[in-house]
Amino acid sequence: MNSCFRTGVVVGALLLQAGPLSWGASQAILRPRVPRDQLEAARAVTNPLPVSDAMIAKGKTLFEGKAFCKVCHGIDGKGLGGDIAPGSLKGPLPRNFTDKDWQAVRTDGELYWILKNGSKGTAMASFIPLVLTEEEAWQVLLYVRSFGRP
Ligand code: HEC
Repeated sequence: MNSCFRTGVVVGALLLQAGPLSWGASQAILRPRVPRDQLEAARAVTNPLPVSDAMIAKGKTLFEGKAFCKVCHGIDGKGLGGDIAPGSLKGPLPRNFTDKDWQAVRTDGELYWILKNGSKGTAMASFIPLVLTEEEAWQVLLYVRSFGRP
């Protein structure tokens, strides 16, 4: 094996690994996660809780505590957050919740649907009702939304 070939193999392997991360990343994360046939119904659901600092604080406590969201989504909401090794999650990586485009394209109802049903084929499991009550889920989503604030 000459060194040029070897370099090619290494670079190729690196590209393969980087592929899912970099490939159209900004576009891929905007694709709806709720199945098409349920999207309209999911989007019609709205957060019943008022947006207040107290509610967001409750959501933060859940996100970082009992609901262990931070393990995958990072304490800063940006994704892996350094808590887990890249590659240890199956399927797509968690969103960057601070991404303004992503925040703008998702409705609260879609995020709630994912918390309730999980996202098939990914590490995102269902959290309602086993981990979170419906009210807690809405609190945690207020916190997720707060990542998108200036
Ligand atoms: C085991 C890792 C893991 C944990 C724990 C986890 N998530 Fe996720 N989550 C993911 C992954 C991976 C995705 C991306 C799924 C996809 O691309 O469809 C995701 C997706 C999401 C989405 C949908 C993003 C979108 O683009 O619509 C929301 C909302 C979400 N998570 C919120 C939470 C909240 C809130 C918690 C805590 C209650 C939590 N997650 C816990 C891994 C996790």
